[in-house]
Amino acid sequence: MLRLAELANILGESPEALSLQLSRMMPTEADYAKPTSAVPSALVREKLKQENLLPPGQVVAFINLKGGTGKTTSAVTTAWRCGDYGLRCCLIDIDAQASASFLMAKEHLEQARPFIEIWDRPEDVNSSLIQVNPQLSLLPSSLDNSLLDLQLAKPLHQKTAIRNTCDQLFNQGHDLIIIDCPPSLGAGVISAICAADILVIPTTADSFAVRGIDLTLNEAASISATFGLKLPDALILLTHHDRRVRMCEEVFVQLKENYGARLVGQPIRTSSSFARAQQRGISVFDISRAKNVQGDYNFFIRTLLQLNPENHRHKPI
Ligand SMILES: Nc1ncnc2c1ncn2[C@@H]1O[C@H](COP(=O)(O)OP(=O)(O)OP(=O)(O)O)[C@@H](O)[C@H]1O
Ligand SMILES: [Mg+2]
Repeated sequence: MLRLAELANILGESPEALSLQLSRMMPTEADYAKPTSAVPSALVREKLKQENLLPPGQVVAFINLKGGTGKTTSAVTTAWRCGDYGLRCCLIDIDAQASASFLMAKEHLEQARPFIEIWDRPEDVNSSLIQVNPQLSLLPSSLDNSLLDLQLAKPLHQKTAIRNTCDQLFNQGHDLIIIDCPPSLGAGVISAICAADILVIPTTADSFAVRGIDLTLNEAASISATFGLKLPDALILLTHHDRRVRMCEEVFVQLKENYGARLVGQPIRTSSSFARAQQRGISVFDISRAKNVQGDYNFFIRTLLQLNPENHRHKPI
């Protein structure tokens, strides 16, 4: 849930003034007198819409050709949290490891129909969706998605498979589509790049992962050029950050120099809360002692949705 003080901060209002406005918009609801009061997501949505701040429908792919950099953790945390911002989100898991699917809906995966079963019939996408909560749905993955390279062998299919599915999901009222990619450049990832408006590249501070940023950016640029598509915007997100480790701080400064405004201005700290949340199948936003990393992901999500007070604009690759 989003607190009154958080929404007030996004809107640049005082909590008192915002509380009054919200009470007028939805007088039958409980009043929002305290900064800690939770604002229902439908009301957050209404208010952002009224202020012209509701983000346009976007496809966001979490991608890094290097493994273990925090793609799945960031994709899942973002998808879960965006519901609190009033967005109707769908996470498409195309990684055959299916970690995101397992984290979000492990009890529903037995009968699940992964992306590979519906990519050529996007009108059937509904039959595959798992409703994780009222704001969030999941198009799950399974080992079967490892055959996507065969199924999407034709370049035209790579160009359109995920894009057509996303168009269908937007038609059904979704606002935000998040894609969790595997750490490889298979046909599914090429298709995700073709569909993406924004690439989020999570990276750790080690040199292999940092090298993965340029590899990913270069591949994405060449794929967009080959298919005659607009370059997606790019955001780089440093994860597993530990301020006490000098190398982490040095890498953050270096990334800032190399990528400027494309680097998210606040890294995601290392925290044992992720392992705890994953074990319990919940979001770190449901762990009361995880305030630090909640703040880090809030900053990232507001950067992504352009809701930070300075209204950071994304930069193309
Ligand atoms: N900020 C963090 N602090 C501590 N642990 C983290 C953090 N972010 C992710 N992790 C842990 O690091 C591991 C790798 O993260 P994750 O699975 O999100 O990476 P990935 O990029 O999706 O990996 P793959 O390339 O295999 O898909 C997981 O065990 C996850 O719980
Ligand atoms: Mg992953």
